[in-house]
Amino acid sequence: MNNKTVLVTGGAGYIGSHACIELLQAGFKVVVVDNLSNSKPESLTRVQQITGKSLSFYQADIRDKQALTEIFAKESPDTVIHFAGLKAVGESCEQPQLYYHNNVYGTLVLTEVMSQANVKQLVFSSSATVYGESSCPQYTEDFALGAINPYGRSKAMIEDILRDLSAADKISPTESPWKIALLRYFNPIGAHESGLIGEDPNGIPNNLMPYVAQVAIGKLTQLSVFGDDYPTRDGTGIRDYIHVVDLVKGHINAIAALNSEKFAAGACKAYNLGAGRGYSVLEIINAFEKVTGKTINYKISPRRAGDLAECFANPDLALKELDWKVEKTLDDMVTDTWNWQTKNPQGYI
Ligand code: NAD
Ligand code: UD1
Repeated sequence: MNNKTVLVTGGAGYIGSHACIELLQAGFKVVVVDNLSNSKPESLTRVQQITGKSLSFYQADIRDKQALTEIFAKESPDTVIHFAGLKAVGESCEQPQLYYHNNVYGTLVLTEVMSQANVKQLVFSSSATVYGESSCPQYTEDFALGAINPYGRSKAMIEDILRDLSAADKISPTESPWKIALLRYFNPIGAHESGLIGEDPNGIPNNLMPYVAQVAIGKLTQLSVFGDDYPTRDGTGIRDYIHVVDLVKGHINAIAALNSEKFAAGACKAYNLGAGRGYSVLEIINAFEKVTGKTINYKISPRRAGDLAECFANPDLALKELDWKVEKTLDDMVTDTWNWQTKNPQGYI
């Protein structure tokens, strides 16, 4: 036990549950706040089973100021990792108010409660989706922002709010300074190697990896490959896939950085969390076929609106300042996805 407490919003979800494992294994006390709108408490039962350690769970909405205030008073966290949010791009276009209310207003309430409790170290789940289209497919943190859908804009707005908040910080003998890491994830996939926790999407998945996994296991009949006429090496879209366990380790390193002298008081800094190389849709299908021995039934379909041809991270800043880089391979990502999928064909039940 390192005597530090981390409050994890959205900790029952896909990435949050993996983060809880790493935090518990690193000796942190973990407090999860999740309204279970897109997760099941079983994920946290399994986190405790994997680690042999317990955590505190509060079923609460981050927009509920009174509930959050009481949780902060009871648990006295040192740091917050803020995963709670809605994340489906298509749904965000249909229900923008829901997305802005949940993600943006939710973050406002959270930071108000943090200010009042003088808890001002925050690691935020941002996304590569905040970047605008660029002629260079490898994104550095200083690229212009320009999200193209309400989900992405909700992340960009939150980044703006957090930058404003840290800029407004006054040096005070009684108050801690804000220290904020904005982690811009590229494409998280994979699952914990135990196969006990993983991604459990509601309904038909929007993202490539869970879709491929459900075709492989026979839940879905055919994958649509959205476009084979992009200016890429095989015509299909290229993305920077990152193993979820590598991704959450970046959060542990971010907490260490926030606690160090290197991270200036009042700083709010963005870091890309990606591998720095991309795979095409066809390369993902091939990797899946190789690992599972199954044939993935697919057809070429029209491009999906809003998709880029190619997008991958320049992760140099995270290496330099967070001492972080990916360790796992595409084979690991596919093997662990398949292990989770075959052990839990219906997800958490
Ligand atoms: P997820 O849906 O599995 O987890 C989010 C969790 O937040 C869920 O458990 C949900 O119940 C909870 N939640 C949502 N709104 C809440 C609220 N108002 N109050 C309390 N709890 C709430 O999603 P994930 O894939 O684990 O993503 C975690 C974070 O990372 C999200 O903020 C997401 O936008 C961001 N992100 C995800 C990806 C990805 O590909 N998965 C990529 C980039 C960024
Ligand atoms: C999507 C979201 C992005 C979010 C990211 C999180 C969109 C437009 N973007 O990004 O905001 O941050 O997920 O991981 O939804 N593909 C297929 N068939 C499918 C699904 C996907 O061919 O059924 C292709 C896509 O065209 C893309 C690649 O697979 O080239 C990856 O798609 P996906 O997993 O949805 O991720 P992103 O589009 O990068």
